[in-house]
Amino acid sequence: MDKLIIRGGNRLSGRIPISGAKNAALTLIPCALLTEEPVTLRNLPRLADIDGFQHLMTQFGVATGIRGNRPEDFGRVVTYESGHLTSTVAPYDLVRKMRASILVLGPLLARAGEATVSLPGGCAIGNRPIDLHLKALEAFGAQIELTQGYVKAMAPDGGLPGGDFDFPVVSVGATENALMAASLTNGTSRLFNAAREPEIVDLCNLLTAMGAEIEGIGTSDLTIHGVKKLNGATYKVMPDRIEAGSYACAAAITGGEVRLEGACEADMHSTNTALRNIGVEIESDKHGMTVRADGPLKATNLSTAPFPGLATDMQAQLMSLLCKAEGTSVLKETIFENRYMHVPELMRMGADVETEGRTAIVRGPVDLTGAEVMATDLRASMSLIIAALAAEGETQVRRIYHLDRGYERLEEKLQLVGADIERVGDE
Ligand code: EPZ
Repeated sequence: MDKLIIRGGNRLSGRIPISGAKNAALTLIPCALLTEEPVTLRNLPRLADIDGFQHLMTQFGVATGIRGNRPEDFGRVVTYESGHLTSTVAPYDLVRKMRASILVLGPLLARAGEATVSLPGGCAIGNRPIDLHLKALEAFGAQIELTQGYVKAMAPDGGLPGGDFDFPVVSVGATENALMAASLTNGTSRLFNAAREPEIVDLCNLLTAMGAEIEGIGTSDLTIHGVKKLNGATYKVMPDRIEAGSYACAAAITGGEVRLEGACEADMHSTNTALRNIGVEIESDKHGMTVRADGPLKATNLSTAPFPGLATDMQAQLMSLLCKAEGTSVLKETIFENRYMHVPELMRMGADVETEGRTAIVRGPVDLTGAEVMATDLRASMSLIIAALAAEGETQVRRIYHLDRGYERLEEKLQLVGADIERVGDE
């Protein structure tokens, strides 16, 4: 298994291209199941999770054509052709490796009238139930059965009638499943307290390009007038706001200046507010963002929340940055119950962090030192890399398959701005 070796202390400077957003791509790909016509996605990141989803799509008989496959290219253009679905079953072996597989449930059900998808099971950051995905589909007229670890969803003859659903908790994935299904129903559906993350807006924009009729895009109340047929479309995946935020933290912790090519400030308001409060300067224009940290970093209090609040996917990376900030910061993780797995590893690098339930108290600034650490999930892994960039000496990060799921060509991008980082095979 590969590991990353990072020698800290280099000030990052230069340009990093920001890839297409993983979490947008993972909901745009299953949209191809909603139509017989080809759907082409541009700017798809090259990531293990995207390859995994591609694999899942072939399980349903979807043909995929990939362009932009040269190793030196960032991003890919992939066309999905779902003219004839040969299966509506997502098996355990594929779903257990990637929770986002649950996002095929809504589109398969709406298109084929039935879908059988393995329950995803547990996850390192929390229980992550899928009850809201199922309740929303039931509200649209689906019959749901749970049997032998699988969800079996059936639509009445003639298709889903559509209906209303009020989310008791904001859920990105359940909103995505509901939107995809509601777009191809016989009636009008309304979603209240829906997630309104930029990735949801990206999904609505693709569905609209495919002929869906959605009102309230970008708000938490959505009205979807179902249509009988959706058409194909060509669509460019939005830039990855979490990748951009992660590299902003990396630049800042080294006192560096980095241009994030393609990053979109409008999607990153809460992250950028947090960074500015910490003392990081950010300038943005329509082609990207420049992040500069040449003064002292200051402690700040942060609380994660659904968009437009601070993304839970940025909590770990900001925590690393706060280890180098003057004063005491209090962090609250309100979305997932177990998202402080990086804390013990950061403490092994010299961080002073205390956790109690969903609260973490970070005292800084501390001198970080290199250590052998273990990645536990995607964003936790990134927080270790950020800390390593500012640490004295060498850090070895193991279990980096987590990173390959969500950061396209990570070490290459960091090398571009002067980081001393290399990937080596583990002995
Ligand atoms: C998405 O996960 C993202 N994944 C996550 O990114 C992200 O952390 C999360 O949204 C929150 O922003 C993808 O987009 C592929 P949720 P999702 O449903 O959709 C509870 C990363 O690192 N809930 O919004 O699974 C749930 O337990 C990843 O890139 C229910 O109770 O998250 C959680 O507490 C990790 N019942 C809260 O809602 C449900 O049916 C929000 O989860 C669904 C969710």
